[in-house]
Formats: sequence, structure tokens, C-alpha cells
Amino acid sequence: MNRRSFLKLVLSVPLLGALVLFVSPLFRYLKPVAGPFPEGLVSKPLSPMRIKNVTFSLSEFPKPWVVQEFTYEQKNPEFTRQGAQLSRIPGYALRIPGNGPDDYQFVVYSRICPHMGCIFRYVDDPNVAASGFNYRPPKGTPVFACPCHLSVYDPLQKQAVGTQELSGKVVSGPAPRPPRFFTFNIDKASQTLVITSLEQGGIS
Ligand code: FES
Repeated sequence: MNRRSFLKLVLSVPLLGALVLFVSPLFRYLKPVAGPFPEGLVSKPLSPMRIKNVTFSLSEFPKPWVVQEFTYEQKNPEFTRQGAQLSRIPGYALRIPGNGPDDYQFVVYSRICPHMGCIFRYVDDPNVAASGFNYRPPKGTPVFACPCHLSVYDPLQKQAVGTQELSGKVVSGPAPRPPRFFTFNIDKASQTLVITSLEQGGIS
């Protein structure tokens, strides 16, 4: 191959590339690789579906202030071809004091901080709450606290949100509201705590 042919060959590569870039959208338009969205997707009600309930035995909470972590899975309707996206939401189930050893009282929260979405933690040492999160619980009871901007939530106090009174009052830091809560049932027959659904909405 002489020099001229070689240069022609080298120069033709970008031209060929440009041609492909120009023509491929036309082909994609004429023969799309993705089909239309499943029929009826847009008109379906946009509420998330839980995949399965989370169940604990009450014996896993032998006394007040025992906490258990869990992951709640739900499908959210999305405008994708699959029509859904799987979310895994970390949660805490906490037994709080009731009237006697057989009185099972709980708060069950999503661990996603309603300020900006970090994962908050359970802090049962008031000294850690004071030194690490700028808040000393007056009665020394445990709190939930977020490491990102130091929001602290008290599971024993309530806060008004719209028409509801929600537990997990923000007692320190910038969070605008208590954590999102899970609804749950206590099944006396099977002695279980069954977590059934999550309050809708995103952060804040
Ligand atoms: S994300 Fe939790 S306090 Fe900001």
C-alpha cells in the first residue's frame, strides 16, 4: 500500500463513524428495540406493593427497649417496561415501655432519615447521644439519631404532621418530621408482630 492509499484509509475511518452515528437513530426510529409500555400501566393506581410481610416473634422482644432491624421489600410502579422497581427499605422495630411485662407496645420506623435520606441508628446510651449527636435525653431513654446532620428522634414523644400525631418527634437537628412509620399488627394467637405496610412518601 502506498502512502496516498494509506492516508485515504485513515481519513475514511472518522467519516465512516460519522455516517454510522447519523444513520443509526434513523434505523432505531424505524425499528425500535423496545416495545410499547404494557397496556394499562399508566392508568394503574400508583401505590407501592409490598412483596411480603415482615414477621417477628414477640419472644424476640423480651423487654422494653429491645430493637430489631429488618429490610422491607416493596415494588414501586415505575414508567419502565417492567412497570416496577424493587426497593429495599431498612427498618427498626422497637419495643417501648407499656403497662407491665406482657404489654407489647412498639414503634416501627423506616430508617431512612426524613431530612436528606441518610440511614439513622438506634442510640441507647445517653452519653453517646450527648457527645455524638448534641442531644442528651432528659430521662436517659434511647433515641434514634442520624449521623449526617445530627437529627434526633424520640420514640416516646409525638409530633403533629398534618392531621396526624406521629411518634418519633424531632427533638434536635434539622429533620422536618418524624421518621416514616410502618403499620403493623400484633397477632395474639401466634404471638407475632407482623409489619404490613410503609407510610407513603419519600424523604421529608
Ligand atoms: S440526613 Fe439525617 S439529619 Fe440530615
